[in-house]
Amino acid sequence: MPYAKIIGSGGYLPPRVVSNDELAAELATRQIETSDAWITERTGIRQRHIADPGVTSSQLAVKAAQHALADAGVSAEELDLIIVATSTPDFIFPSTACLVQAELGNKGAAAFDVQAVCSGFVYALTTADSFIRSGRAKHALVIGAEVFSSILDWNDRGTCVLFGDGAGAVVLKASEEPGILEAELNADGSLANILHVAGNVVDGKVTGDPFLRMDGQAVFKQAVTALAASAQSVCDKAGVSLEEIDWMVPHQANVRIINFLGRKLKLSDDKVVITVDQHANTSAASVPLAFDAARRDGRIKQGDLVLMQGVGGGFTWGSVLARM
Ligand code: ACO
Repeated sequence: MPYAKIIGSGGYLPPRVVSNDELAAELATRQIETSDAWITERTGIRQRHIADPGVTSSQLAVKAAQHALADAGVSAEELDLIIVATSTPDFIFPSTACLVQAELGNKGAAAFDVQAVCSGFVYALTTADSFIRSGRAKHALVIGAEVFSSILDWNDRGTCVLFGDGAGAVVLKASEEPGILEAELNADGSLANILHVAGNVVDGKVTGDPFLRMDGQAVFKQAVTALAASAQSVCDKAGVSLEEIDWMVPHQANVRIINFLGRKLKLSDDKVVITVDQHANTSAASVPLAFDAARRDGRIKQGDLVLMQGVGGGFTWGSVLARM
């Protein structure tokens, strides 16, 4: 049975950077009080990239995908599977993956979206791994892409300071060499209400609430508990110990969640990739963007053992353990 090996990665962030100070000043014009000190201390976030009006997830996804394909030395025509993880699709349908496929110039590959919010990328990666291991695909493109700024209530300081926009992508190839060793996905739908966008379009009108709502403390507790258990479980299944992990690439929601998790798993800080300070929480894009940043600056190298983890709305979570 072939392995799915990650042979390339890419990322794309919209050019407009909004610092905490700039965001605080903008919110102050509407009598909403926040500060760089509050945001940095509670979340570790210092800035975020925000897409200009009209920019869509598929546009960000295509740019990240082009970088990943160039890095992998794979042409768009060679792809037989394209999966986009997003909670901010361009349209209800067609899927963002089909829009990306057309823009890249691929015809014929299976293309579909995965909706698992901030766990979306690990869900999509696990799905692609299953296609490759079963022989149903040979070259897969897996993307996480979000324009989360479009579903934020900019009058809610408890949520709007936390998120940013962006896209990250990886290319997987069927290989006899070890690649993805093990993966595990989980969900608990009974916790849907702690993080949700409970709106829809019906008869041409938005029904319900079209903005992200969150119980921050409940999310915090669930995230650390679920991710610690998932990391241990995926390592046990793969027959490796947590100490053998070279790099952990966790979902980038909040540096306090990441630090708490690192301590719980007894992973030293220098093994944990952090981009949340620069990108904020880009939901499904956060793990591939962090992974790509650490590959490009030379931290993640050939042969390294990498644990990627996602957690988010649903409530969903999951882990992918990969040999580079
Ligand atoms: N600026 C200033 N004050 C604020 C802000 C802000 N941006 N947001 C909230 N506050 C205030 C609140 O109004 C409250 O004021 P009060 O005491 O007068 O009522 C006070 O700060 C404390 O609010 P809490 O919500 O209790 O703050 P908490 O310490 O829990 O921090 C946070 C909030 C950062 C969201 C925290 O709960 C957290 O880290 N949760 C994890 C959730 C997360 O990271 N979600 C990201 C998306 S989910 C995901 O990706 C998995």
